[in-house]
Amino acid sequence: MAKTTRITYRCSFCGKEQNEVQRLIAGPGGVYVCDECTHAFTEVLANAESALALPAHTRVLTAADPYKEKVGGLVRCSFCGKSREQVNAMIAGPGGVHICNECVDLCLQIIEEERNPAAHGHAEQTHAPSSADGVRKHLLDVDDWSASEIGALFARADAMGAALARPETKLDTLRGKVMVNLFYENSTRTRVSFELAGKKLGADVTNVTASASSVTKGESLIDTVRTLQALGARIVVVRSSQAGAPDLIARHIDGSVLNAGDGWHAHPTQALLDLYTIVRRLGPVRGRRIVILGDILHSRVARSNIWTLTAMGATVVLCGPPTLLPPAAADLYAARPVPGTDARREVIVEPHIERALEGADVVMALRLQRERQQAGLLPSIREYSAVWGLTPERLKLANPGALVLHPGPMNEGVEIDPAVAYGDASVIEEQVTNGVAIRMAALELVAGADQKRGE
Ligand code: NCD
Repeated sequence: MAKTTRITYRCSFCGKEQNEVQRLIAGPGGVYVCDECTHAFTEVLANAESALALPAHTRVLTAADPYKEKVGGLVRCSFCGKSREQVNAMIAGPGGVHICNECVDLCLQIIEEERNPAAHGHAEQTHAPSSADGVRKHLLDVDDWSASEIGALFARADAMGAALARPETKLDTLRGKVMVNLFYENSTRTRVSFELAGKKLGADVTNVTASASSVTKGESLIDTVRTLQALGARIVVVRSSQAGAPDLIARHIDGSVLNAGDGWHAHPTQALLDLYTIVRRLGPVRGRRIVILGDILHSRVARSNIWTLTAMGATVVLCGPPTLLPPAAADLYAARPVPGTDARREVIVEPHIERALEGADVVMALRLQRERQQAGLLPSIREYSAVWGLTPERLKLANPGALVLHPGPMNEGVEIDPAVAYGDASVIEEQVTNGVAIRMAALELVAGADQKRGE
């Protein structure tokens, strides 16, 4: 019989547990700061002589402190990634955790807004974007995700990764809940990844594929969903070739819907796992140059990735044949600032491959999605691969240590050379592995909303 475990969160500065404080705010990579520390830090930063005691092993760094850590390079804020030179003050906590004055301010704002939402013009909040216990009923896309909400999800993915390292235990987050994977399009990694994630969280998981379902007998999408609901489904994970199908289902079901890819539109969990893989390898992506290469036009992966990467401050360069590049992409994304800020999303369209790759920190190659293409968009596959294929020679234009990603499935030798796909820069297998932890975190997020509704 599998054991069930609950995960406890603690403030990374004072060590208090979530239930000992009013509020715990999550940063990326499993760091947290509580409301008590936020108040103490605010006080100390405003008045160095403050009588308010800082927690043990926590102090404001001074000019006498080295700007570099013994290992790991510059001292950086564990929440936003800025270095000491980029901020006015930095507080060091135990075990190498740091928080800068800007993040302390932001945490204070979050705490105060939550205490008195009306005074901050947020009388009605549909979700708590920056919270460790934030809730969302559905995950349809990531276009309205803030950096702090992404950070909070990543902190949970870290905890889920730790749980996955203990294969003998199961969590009880979704115990007693029926989760259905409703896949109208082929999939291996996404479906299996959701299935493993649901099972690890204790759900009863069942898979429905279009060819084995009543869809082939003409049952409509809504009828199918109503049937699943009558059978007790609380969570529906859906993949469809129709953009908007998950949104439609979400409007006809009491439970939660997670989009596992809809047409050309969105693939939110893929974007989150891609970013998570990059952050785990390179740290914060702010100011990094991330190239998405290939068939951007038909790619739901690219569309969702642009939202999350730009929300975290990366510059996204879209590169591919002009016929496969959405021409207005840069303006379209720039018109929607990152939630909670007026930060412009940095998107560059660069059809010249050598210019795009120069100085890249990450190159994300996309599959040539021929099943979605009209005739006449490409001269031939051979010519496409000669001009747009990611080869070891072209990769040399990127920065040293640049990462290569691909959402899979790959057309080896078409958009990516096998020497790159299986070379040192490739983190393609890590993407697949990280996908389970990210999907667990996403399922937990929507399950939190389900619980709140049932209260
Ligand atoms: C992608 C998809 O289906 O959108 N793959 C995936 O989910 N891992 C990308 C693709 O099909 O090219």
